[in-house]
Amino acid sequence: MFITFEGIDGSGKTTQLNLLADYLVEKGYEVIKLREPGGTILSEKIRELLLDKSIPIPPMTELLLFNSARSFLVETIIKPAIESGKIVLCDRFYDSTTAYQAFGRELNYENVITINDLAAGGLIPDLTFYIDIDLETHKIRTLGKDLDRMESSGDEFYKKVIEGYRKLSETNENRIKKIISKNEISDTFNEIIDIFENKFNKI
Ligand SMILES: Nc1ncnc2c1ncn2[C@@H]1O[C@H](COP(=O)(O)OP(=O)(O)OP(=O)(O)O)[C@@H](O)[C@H]1O
Ligand SMILES: [Mg+2]
Repeated sequence: MFITFEGIDGSGKTTQLNLLADYLVEKGYEVIKLREPGGTILSEKIRELLLDKSIPIPPMTELLLFNSARSFLVETIIKPAIESGKIVLCDRFYDSTTAYQAFGRELNYENVITINDLAAGGLIPDLTFYIDIDLETHKIRTLGKDLDRMESSGDEFYKKVIEGYRKLSETNENRIKKIISKNEISDTFNEIIDIFENKFNKI
């Protein structure tokens, strides 16, 4: 089983992924937690390049680098783990690329989808949680944080990314579940568990 978490920085992806992982481990499942870009030595090195503020990266190069990191992670870690019956939880996956590089950077949507699919080797998440926050909440939650290259892209960029995520969750409503972030972390988590259990009611 393959479950992904999406949303802009500060939406609570890592917080919720960790809670879901603990919940599943408690139930006796073998769980692997991953993040994108990253999760392997090669992909973490690509992540460093992508987040380095001192390296200007054109949008197409950015798209290809994210997908290079993804392709390696999928082939070497995610696919083997799913095949051996583990539950893979991934902090961001290709919907991030669609939201950030197609909607945010305004690269051609169809091209982005095609490259994402190629890099994912046909793998589609069984379930994706999109945690929705607005720009104000994002600013409050990331206040004082040292911003990386992607996070330094400005308000207009973030507005387009949020719009992109909202559109994606509407057009893929069977897979991408939009969760409006609550003030309490536990309230957001309860909604995630409800959706999860409804979808996989054997758990
Ligand atoms: N529902 C919530 N209410 C209030 N604060 C929250 C909530 N969810 C997360 N936070 C806080 O917001 C911050 C960002 O959360 P988290 O790191 O999980 O987000 P993220 O989506 O993984 O962000 P990033 O993309 O920067 O890794 C943390 O300090 C976390 O405790
Ligand atoms: Mg995080």
